Amino acid sequence: MRILSVVGARPQFVKLAPVAAECARRGVEHVIVHTGQHYDPMLSDVFFRDLGIPDPDVHLGVGSGGHGAQTGSILGAMDPVLEDRRPDWVLVYGDTNSTLAGALSAVKLHLPVAHLEAGLRSFNRRMPEEHNRVLTDHAGDLLLAPTEVAVDHLRAEGLGERAVLVGDVMIDVLYRVRDELADTDAVLEQLGMQPGGFSVATIHRAENTDDPARLGAIVAALQEVDHPVVLLAHPRLRARAEEHGLDLDGGSLTTRAPLPYPALVGAVSQARGVITDSGGLQKEAFALRTPCTTVRTETEWVETVELGWNVLVEPGPALRDALARPAPAPTAAAPYGDGHAAAAVLDALGA
Ligand code: UD1
Repeated sequence: MRILSVVGARPQFVKLAPVAAECARRGVEHVIVHTGQHYDPMLSDVFFRDLGIPDPDVHLGVGSGGHGAQTGSILGAMDPVLEDRRPDWVLVYGDTNSTLAGALSAVKLHLPVAHLEAGLRSFNRRMPEEHNRVLTDHAGDLLLAPTEVAVDHLRAEGLGERAVLVGDVMIDVLYRVRDELADTDAVLEQLGMQPGGFSVATIHRAENTDDPARLGAIVAALQEVDHPVVLLAHPRLRARAEEHGLDLDGGSLTTRAPLPYPALVGAVSQARGVITDSGGLQKEAFALRTPCTTVRTETEWVETVELGWNVLVEPGPALRDALARPAPAPTAAAPYGDGHAAAAVLDALGA
């Protein structure tokens, strides 16, 4: 059995880690194709290094671009790779442009496609990720869903017969990294923060960064919080803030570079709160039982909200005030599985 994984952006490297480890454990041949969508070492190389992922077998080196150009470049570059490797499964992850391009190229060459993290929906058709998810699910042969809710969405779209509930591979890697963390003092020292006394923020989605008024309202709110907030700035955020003439430091807000994954897990585990528009971080905060505030109008990870550990807020005073709320009631719920999703993925692939 030969599985070919297509990855390109930061969250996909995290999801790849437990799948690569499980392939190695079972002796399954695993070809890793890196599209090059993310190329900064802090968004790419450090994840391979810290999570023990083998180096990519193929690097397409497409880089940044508009949605059509980026998706098209990956699509064009995939053809010879898939013709050459002829995998039994092409495995695509999540909802980025690399996901859609990987799925489309495989479909056109009549290769079976499995979509990991299938069935998530925000029902917000303005999000590029929503286009990518819907199109990838409808192109896929095997839809590996992380949650019951995701399976329900697939059924509602007539895709139930291709769906398998496998749990969430991000929980596999999170638990592993958490258990291996020697100490969190170094990252707190690096950030200049005290245990339990600060919040961690990440903001990178186009809906939040590209509109100057919206980004301005987010930054203003984060500067007025009643405790220190450390913002781990994605390159898109830095670039847009500069274009909009916004200062990302001031008041309660300090801005730093993105953290490698183990340091991020350490920081979130010691934080009193998380502020984000990332999908993955909402779940990571929940799994580490750190209250999360999500700067979006909807979330795919509805379980975190229903269990009281995540609130959705708009930029402005509501955001500032949400960060002062008391901690929610403890819960033992595990809607994202038990940390063994990668094994369920390989079982579903017949590996
Ligand atoms: C992409 C995904 C998003 C995911 C995010 C994770 C799409 C449509 N979006 O968003 O779903 O949540 O990755 O981080 O696929 N840039 C750099 N260095 C890099 C990569 C990007 O400086 O290594 C800058 C470039 O200016 C680029 C911009 O960031 O134009 C956006 O990068 P892109 O990959 O298009 O989208 P992300 O915002 O990272």
